[in-house]
Amino acid sequence: MYSPEEKQKLQTETTAFLKSKGATSIGLNKIEQLRNILRFHEYRYYILNDPWLADNEYDQLYKLLEKTENENPNCITADSPTQRVAKGLTKSFPSAPHLAPMLSLDNSYNSEDLIDFDRRVREITGIEIIEYCVEPKFDGASISLIYENNLLTRAATRGDGVEGDEITTNIKQIKSIPLSAKFSNYNLQQVELRGEVLINKNNFKKYNEQQTEQGLAPLANPRNAAAGSLRIKNPIEVAKRSLEAFIYHISYFTSIATKKSASDVQQHSSMIKMLWELGFRSPQKEMKVLTGIDAVINYCNEFEIIRDELPFEIDGMVIKVNDVLLQDKLGMTSHHPRWAIAYKFKARQATSKLISVEFQVGRTGSITPVAKIEPVFIGGVTVSSISLFNEDVIQEKDLKIGDTVLVERAGDVIPNIVKPFIELRSGKEKKIFFPTHCPACNSILYKEEEEAVWRCLSFECPAQIVERIIHFASKDAMDIRGLGEALVQKFYEQKLLLDIIGIYKLNFDAIGTLDGFGKKSIENLKEAINNSKSQPLHRLIFALGIRFVGETTAKALAQCIHHLLDLRNFSLDDLQNINDVGPKVAGSICNFFSHQNNIEMLQQLEELGLQLKNVKKEILTSGNINQQTFLFTGSLQKLKRSEAENLVETNGGIIVNGVSSKLHYLVVGADAGSKLEKAKKITSIKIISEDEFLQLIGKE
Ligand code: IVH
Repeated sequence: MYSPEEKQKLQTETTAFLKSKGATSIGLNKIEQLRNILRFHEYRYYILNDPWLADNEYDQLYKLLEKTENENPNCITADSPTQRVAKGLTKSFPSAPHLAPMLSLDNSYNSEDLIDFDRRVREITGIEIIEYCVEPKFDGASISLIYENNLLTRAATRGDGVEGDEITTNIKQIKSIPLSAKFSNYNLQQVELRGEVLINKNNFKKYNEQQTEQGLAPLANPRNAAAGSLRIKNPIEVAKRSLEAFIYHISYFTSIATKKSASDVQQHSSMIKMLWELGFRSPQKEMKVLTGIDAVINYCNEFEIIRDELPFEIDGMVIKVNDVLLQDKLGMTSHHPRWAIAYKFKARQATSKLISVEFQVGRTGSITPVAKIEPVFIGGVTVSSISLFNEDVIQEKDLKIGDTVLVERAGDVIPNIVKPFIELRSGKEKKIFFPTHCPACNSILYKEEEEAVWRCLSFECPAQIVERIIHFASKDAMDIRGLGEALVQKFYEQKLLLDIIGIYKLNFDAIGTLDGFGKKSIENLKEAINNSKSQPLHRLIFALGIRFVGETTAKALAQCIHHLLDLRNFSLDDLQNINDVGPKVAGSICNFFSHQNNIEMLQQLEELGLQLKNVKKEILTSGNINQQTFLFTGSLQKLKRSEAENLVETNGGIIVNGVSSKLHYLVVGADAGSKLEKAKKITSIKIISEDEFLQLIGKE
């Protein structure tokens, strides 16, 4: 897409624009240059997954363009990066006839099916060995895009294949879809593209965590999430879902009349390459050209193994005859092309029976219905318990005890009940009654307006106390190894541990008399508890389990204070001035610090030796790793992950989230997976072991 010279030029221009920090607008002669710079950085971020700019630097440049355009509205172009933003709500999604019918694909489930497909292709074409292009079958929602004279003019859903719904405004929220592309370089005037919109596993998880934190129903799975998102009437809401798109087919085109011939693309693989060159996220890196069906079968099997390591869901592979002339010869049925077939991976759905529903009390008092089902084996694990999230989910799905249900488990996504089979009901199924009182302490349950979750408001509720202790000790909070769910429950029942403070006052003599507790395990537990006392302040804030205060907010809060009890004096307004803190979060923090028993708990924790002060880490800036970036993958043998990361930071290094060309060191522990594979492909990254890391920082 960009030659080395162009990249160099864009980077120099970027630096120049960033330097003019004070400037609030720019000369009109520079406006298109600035747009190109923003497009380039969007491309690096959304297509290559390798950003060169920090978010705030991108924002600075974006605002500069926005301001200049606002002052000169006649200069706004339809493909300006600012034109993704929509004004107001979408009223309706008018019907949109496709230029070429959006056919489906024939399915295959095993190697015999693929061998049959290959035989049919060879018979019709009369060619002995066929070249195929194999690419992932993205598990999302199908879309069509029309570009005219290089501009994106219309986007639509698949609908019935003949016409879909017009969703252009929503599609513009997807940053990996360019608003314009140089089709004219290929003599193309009008093109219709096909692709798939998806939400990657990470963003899906994040979105659902936010939803549940706010007491809202989470989305069922990434596929439904993508499909549902395309039909939301508020484009701002669509943008929040962080959708992505893969584009894999040109289904229709017209050529520019004055030029001699249209695109001379002879192979499907070259078309994928051309789309990539035009700035689309096509499966350029994921596809493979293979000769003969045996090689295809092997590639499909290999891909099925690494399926879970991909950042997005795929439900199979698509096998396409690579030669476009042969594709034409093979033609299509009314349902699918004869030159392509989908190879579906083993199902991650199964049927089971809904035996009962239990109601669990969370640490913030939320009541979560949990379905107990007859155990089923799906995608490598046995599932017997599935969260139903809230009362509305039970009603929307019309679930009854005794129902035969369809269960799904997509990759590392938590299992989900898709639907009951109403047609299989015998009449003996029983309605599910939501409790009116807390199953743990019998207090009456409340539900706030506009919330879907019922809550027990009693602070003394034993179930909440246990959950709060579990959360406090958990890995991302105070990381007290060994003090897991089962042990907290057991200690609570034995009255050895009744609240968070109790962790630091445990009677180890009494614990020693319990079954299964040897000297060694007691020593380990003592050490883990002691070590937790020096956890940094942001971990303690997160560990307190204040409603709506996740890890990011905890870090933001810690940065604004010298001592945790300073927060007592923060007003709602003061809190809302902090990054990431809105009115809901601020209200919850104020509420926490208004309770005297919470203050007393914090004072006692400090007396017991916990770190309530914001101790600035002493950073060594002279060491070997100053300003070097690090990422850890796999399980480390000698260090805890948090210790290792801490060592990097105290030695002047920087922890990063993902593998990119900006990463200097990948430290590999046991069973490392996709990060290692990715890093191997970037030659500048140094891949080192845990021991080598310790040597590097002079610890061994
Ligand atoms: S090719 C004529 N390629 O799977 C072209 N489809 O079950 C036909 N899909 O409707 C489509 N990944 O929405 C093609 N790499 C891929 C695909 C893909 C996902 C979807 C597509 C299609 C459905 C059929």
